[in-house]
Amino acid sequence: MDLIIYLFLSFSISLITFLLLRAAAAAHFRRRKIRLPPGTLGLPFIGETLQLISAYKTENPEPFIDDRIAKYGNIFTTHVFGEPTVFSTDPETNRFILQNEGRLFESSYPSSLQNLLGKHSLLLMRGSLHKRMHSLTMSFANSSILKDHLLADIDRLVRLNLDSWTGRVFLMEEAKKITFNLTVKQLMSLDPCEWTEKLMKEYMLVIEGFFTIPLPFFSSTYRKAIQARRKVAEALGLVVRERRKEREGEGGERLKNDMLEALFEGDGVEGDGFSDEEIVDFMLALLVAGYETTSTIMTLAVKFLTETPHALSLLKEEHEEIRLKKGKVESLLWEDYKSMPFTQCVVNETLRVGNIISGVFRRTMTDINIKGYTIPKGWKVFACFRAVHLDHEHFKDARTFDPWRWQSNAGSTSSPNVFTPFGGGPRRCPGYELARVELCVFLHHLVTRYSWVPAEPDKLVFFPTTRMQKRYPIIVQRRSLFDPCKE
Ligand code: HEM
Ligand SMILES: *[C@@H]1O[C@H](CO)[C@@H](O)[C@H](O)[C@H]1NC(C)=O
Ligand SMILES: *[C@@H]1O[C@H](CO)[C@@H](O)[C@H](O)[C@H]1NC(C)=O
Ligand SMILES: *[C@@H]1O[C@H](CO)[C@@H](O)[C@H](O)[C@H]1NC(C)=O
Repeated sequence: MDLIIYLFLSFSISLITFLLLRAAAAAHFRRRKIRLPPGTLGLPFIGETLQLISAYKTENPEPFIDDRIAKYGNIFTTHVFGEPTVFSTDPETNRFILQNEGRLFESSYPSSLQNLLGKHSLLLMRGSLHKRMHSLTMSFANSSILKDHLLADIDRLVRLNLDSWTGRVFLMEEAKKITFNLTVKQLMSLDPCEWTEKLMKEYMLVIEGFFTIPLPFFSSTYRKAIQARRKVAEALGLVVRERRKEREGEGGERLKNDMLEALFEGDGVEGDGFSDEEIVDFMLALLVAGYETTSTIMTLAVKFLTETPHALSLLKEEHEEIRLKKGKVESLLWEDYKSMPFTQCVVNETLRVGNIISGVFRRTMTDINIKGYTIPKGWKVFACFRAVHLDHEHFKDARTFDPWRWQSNAGSTSSPNVFTPFGGGPRRCPGYELARVELCVFLHHLVTRYSWVPAEPDKLVFFPTTRMQKRYPIIVQRRSLFDPCKE
């Protein structure tokens, strides 16, 4: 009983405070003659969060944005996840936001996510350290490294995973295993083994913690995630210490070609090298950033292709041609990757329609005047890529999966700002090419080895992340043409 009274009291007090603050803020903006982007703030605290969440839990979340654009135009104010937030669905404004990272806007994550990411993660870094570490990450996954080092491992690990498929498989689960094993290999040259499997189990708990958005600190999933994070960090720490010892034994020689080595060679925050803790946080963040995203894009590509048989058969033709030239077992080479024009269209179209990252949050560092409005200092801004990618003004028949649109002058009708699945500016995804290569290699081995049908109807939803509700179960059948010995 006491608790209920307490909760009621604290709710009422917060409600009153909220209303007072809101009135004060409104008066303040009026006095300063600030013209906020139009919109509604909804209920106290929760604002329009529930409308957003319920829209994004369905297969068609577009009305949430469409309705507001129709009422207020393509920059509007709403109130989600505890704060007033300006949504931009305008490509020019999105570009302005991304390009001015660190000057007028800065990335912003809730503190619950910061605890899970670790304070030395690239996503949380700022200023010149961020710049240095961003380019270090780029140079670990740039095209020449991909070509000379990473592609061979990607090819090998994708096959190894596909070889174990029989009957009914959950595509999303398999894609996650593939991306996890790949990332561990790329970060620290470890092949899948019992140790990596144990690591993956703990790691999955950490990931779950990321998606307990509404009340993270009260949730047991979140507490478990924090514990699991500690275990994962300990396990990675062990590897880092071992490798450091080995390296010192060799007089600082470059032993392996992986991210860990690049970090050992890095200058560190103060120019005296990175500590083990910094390295662990950094690697953990890369594991987080590449894991859900890449495995989801693999799953969605297969889903969209399954629903568009004509595209699937064209894609198959392209890959069978490559396979026939190479014989059954040879690995894919960079030239092969570069000779998949239709697959590249499928990749772009999957990114465009799938919108795994529907946009990015930023916080204004100063008052921002844009398109006749002012966004006050300290406000949240959401650059919504999804709305641009699905806007008929920028893509004809924007809400249909149509890979062929990319065959004629890069698919879009106007400026280059309209297609930004990997963001842009100083925080543009450093894994953009890695993700593309992984997806292409995966599709190559999938379509040349298997045919499949969905095992049961499944639904694409967008909250808390873009995902297939049932993890996309499919029934696979080995194609004898390409693997007669295995039949
Ligand atoms: C289809 C797959 C992927 C998509 C759609 C994607 C998308 C994005 C986007 C939109 C951002 C920008 C975030 C922002 O501006 O705040 C980003 C950042 C980032 N991505 Fe990716 N990503 C993918 C795969 C990967 C992979 C494979 C890696 C592994 C290296 C990776 C590592 C990162 C990192 C470290 C950042 C933070 C960059 C920074 O804050 O400076 N991503 N990603
Ligand atoms: C890629 O990064 C490596 C260092 O890791 C660098 O030597 C090389 O020049 C970079 N290549 C490209 C194409 O940027
Ligand atoms: C990758 O990781 C998963 C999960 O830890 C494991 O079950 C699988 O055997 C590993 N290897 C491959 C090639 O997928
Ligand atoms: C895919 O999109 C990228 C921009 O992210 C573009 O550079 C590339 O040309 C597109 N590919 C095709 C086949 O249109």
